[in-house]
Amino acid sequence: MEALEEMVGTSPVMCAVFDSIRKVAQTDMPVLITGETGTGKELIAQAIHERSRQKQGPCVPINCGAIPDTLLESELFGHERGAFTGAVQQKRGKLEAAADGTLFLDEVGDLLPPLQVKLLRFLQEGTFERLGGQRTLRVNARIIAATNVDLKLAIDKNLFREDLYYRLGVMHIHLPPIRDRGEDTTLMAMIFLKRAAVFYRKPIRGYTSEAINAIHSYSWPGNVRELSNKVRRAVVMAEGDDITPRDLDLTCETLQPEDSLASLRAAHRRIEVELIVKAISLHRGNLTRVARDLEVSRTTLYRKLRAYKLEALVSTGAPRSAPLRIA
Ligand SMILES: Nc1ncnc2c1ncn2[C@@H]1O[C@H](COP(=O)(O)OP(=O)(O)OP(=O)(O)O)[C@@H](O)[C@H]1O
Ligand SMILES: [Mg+2]
Repeated sequence: MEALEEMVGTSPVMCAVFDSIRKVAQTDMPVLITGETGTGKELIAQAIHERSRQKQGPCVPINCGAIPDTLLESELFGHERGAFTGAVQQKRGKLEAAADGTLFLDEVGDLLPPLQVKLLRFLQEGTFERLGGQRTLRVNARIIAATNVDLKLAIDKNLFREDLYYRLGVMHIHLPPIRDRGEDTTLMAMIFLKRAAVFYRKPIRGYTSEAINAIHSYSWPGNVRELSNKVRRAVVMAEGDDITPRDLDLTCETLQPEDSLASLRAAHRRIEVELIVKAISLHRGNLTRVARDLEVSRTTLYRKLRAYKLEALVSTGAPRSAPLRIA
């Protein structure tokens, strides 16, 4: 299935996103895709590539956050023989591999400043040198970048170059979290349920009204990925015809607004959950960084993750009165 067809959504915000995908796909300009973890940034990058003029070419992904800083330049731009100890032969980087196609720079916010300069030059002039190389190379590759960190904040902290941000973000697609997509969440929950029921061969008809309400009031910090995982889990766990809140196990739901007045303890809990979820998303589950950011020890962090039932995060609307069934 094509990536764009795979994407579920009928809310106005998502229709605007689909529209942007079709429009930017027609151009060769760089695209910046932003959004919280699990909102579909990679799927969108694929959708753009599949509809672009470079669709016959490769779509080469590179995750700038997952590669050690010392290796990233060579991974991205390649190196010449002898460029560093161990560089026994010349190597082409991902940028060259993406020739006549698309380079998908995931977690672009993790690029260190010297590489940001090199990327900016490529975007402006289409040229670069391999690590340790003198020869200037030219490659025709479209750049699509994605990030789930706030690049404006990174600019304020001098971690990200403003000129690169504007160059990358001429075409900017922002994916809203699913809690801002209205009925799309229910729609996705139904579609994922249908698929999982077929896959696990379980005769499940739909959701109880309580389950739908739980889906609506949960904050979905892990967005579509979390929704899809929770639905799959629910299908496996379900014993009845309809999925219940218990099958879904949305135990780390953020507290309702009225709870914030209930007690200091509830308010404290809500703030802690919010901050922890944000930090985990920002650091993509790297608990050492999360603990450092929140200024707690890893032991304390683990204890809180357990207490708030947030462990699952690391490893990986309107109320209704009737059950919702697969049509
Ligand atoms: N609108 C959608 N409809 C259906 N499935 C979707 C939609 N958006 C995303 N998905 C699915 O959700 C999962 C997460 O999407 P994806 O990997 O693109 O998110 P991401 O924003 O890149 O996340 P991260 O920031 O964690 O890398 C994938 O399995 C993807 O296919
Ligand atoms: Mg991704």
